[in-house]
Amino acid sequence: MRKPGLQKTFFVTGTDTGVGKTTVTGSLVRLLVAGGHRARAIKPIESGCRRRPDGTLEPSDALALRRAAGLEQCPLEQFIRYRLAEPLAPAVAAERAGVSLDLTACVELVRAAQDTTDLLLVEGAGGLLVPFTGDAQNGYQTVADFVTALGVPVLVIARARLGTLNHILLTVRELDRRGIACTGVILNAVDAETGPEGEDNARVLRTFGVRVLAELPYGVARLETSLTNVARYLAES
Ligand SMILES: Nc1ncnc2c1ncn2[C@@H]1O[C@H](COP(=O)(O)OP(=O)(O)OP(=O)(O)O)[C@@H](O)[C@H]1O
Ligand SMILES: [Mg+2]
Repeated sequence: MRKPGLQKTFFVTGTDTGVGKTTVTGSLVRLLVAGGHRARAIKPIESGCRRRPDGTLEPSDALALRRAAGLEQCPLEQFIRYRLAEPLAPAVAAERAGVSLDLTACVELVRAAQDTTDLLLVEGAGGLLVPFTGDAQNGYQTVADFVTALGVPVLVIARARLGTLNHILLTVRELDRRGIACTGVILNAVDAETGPEGEDNARVLRTFGVRVLAELPYGVARLETSLTNVARYLAES
């Protein structure tokens, strides 16, 4: 039976590209749906889309997120607003493709998605200060500007390896500076090989006042078990 609930939205950013935003977001959606919640995730702009033989662009993240919610019957346009080919920051890929990206259109996609679900996760692109929309001539809007326009709290996914403390603290400080709430950080062992630096990350981050929600092991098969408490936390927060 579906559990009733107020509409909640969380923005998912990373400390970098390829840190597991889609993987973690998809797992959280699957857990929430399995727990009886109405949940879905969207990716308003996706760059690095593969070009299909018919010339259209295939947004693998948006497709994975739609699949995670079991909503394959819904039009993909509910999950993504812009698709870009080159694997670059969205605003840069768009400039090079001669495409104009409208931040308001991305906000509208989120607002429409909020009407369809109780818990919405919005995946950004790369990290927080990635040029998201706009252009060099008129100025770029970053992912952080998008989050500010949405006014929602942020979940930070971070690669669990050397360098991550700096990346996380920079991200959290920028959120703080902008008055954006940080729901927490998820440390993800994206790489098979991790050295001793990974062992103390969570402890050190906590001394900086950073809320570490989970430390995920290497191997995607085990992620959902490690994310059960995070899914519960999001649903109840
Ligand atoms: N805990 C993990 N263990 C092993 N592999 C992982 C783990 N988390 C993610 N991966 C793998 O790392 C790769 C990057 O993950 P993912 O696509 O989720 O990153 P992303 O942050 O969404 O990237 P992008 O910035 O391109 O959207 C994928 O191949 C994914 O399967
Ligand atoms: Mg992704």
